[in-house]
Amino acid sequence: MRLFVNVDHVATVREARKTLEPDPLKAALLAEQAGADGITVHLREDRRHIQDHDVVRIKDQIQTVLNLEMAAVDEMVEIASRLRPYQVSLVPEKRQELTTEGGLDVCSQKDRLLKIKERLVAHGILFSLFVDADAKQIEASHSIGADSIEINTGLYTELKDPGDVQTELAKIRVGARQAAALGLRVFAGHGLNIQNVEAIAAIPEIEELNIGHSLVAQSIYNGMGNAVREMLKSIAQGARSVAN
Ligand code: PXP
Repeated sequence: MRLFVNVDHVATVREARKTLEPDPLKAALLAEQAGADGITVHLREDRRHIQDHDVVRIKDQIQTVLNLEMAAVDEMVEIASRLRPYQVSLVPEKRQELTTEGGLDVCSQKDRLLKIKERLVAHGILFSLFVDADAKQIEASHSIGADSIEINTGLYTELKDPGDVQTELAKIRVGARQAAALGLRVFAGHGLNIQNVEAIAAIPEIEELNIGHSLVAQSIYNGMGNAVREMLKSIAQGARSVAN
């Protein structure tokens, strides 16, 4: 099981001030040092978090590989063709959404996605599709020759009723089995955290996870104490220099 760390929301914090910190590249390098197998960024059309220069710096400086999430639009295909990341994951994108809502509708746009796939594969880029655990979408992904699918775990992570959670997990298991039987590599992601990841990691066909938001949240909890201690040290040093 590989873990790809999504550093989008490090950039979200930076963009809140339009400044240089925190730097998603720095976070990506720390994630790699801790054992991440790859780095994921979503270059959104509205550039609300990750910027074009982030993608270039991250691609050039990480030691592992870059998975570029993007909408199935010309602008992004051109950027990916120039940049040549290890993998592109196509996701649906709406301007108003807070985050990706639901999987890609592959069935209704097979011809268009096939053309995009051909352009990306010509550059040696692996081609992945973010889809719901839906038999028709998985079959369509296979029929256009995707290398992999990423099963949307968003709904599973949002449900509260234990019965509903089990029903959704069962759908994900069936989808993973179907995709693997078709020869697709199977990934999963969206909304995963320390608690809900275990049941997903227990699905044998799933070999790669994309996790972002909860890791950024945990980083704040795990890092705030040290950050405050460092700040207090600097303040004390300043205060001592006045006293002397
Ligand atoms: N996979 C896809 C396709 C996504 O769009 C996202 C969110 O950018 C993720 C995984 C990661 O989700 P989260 O940030 O909730 O861990």
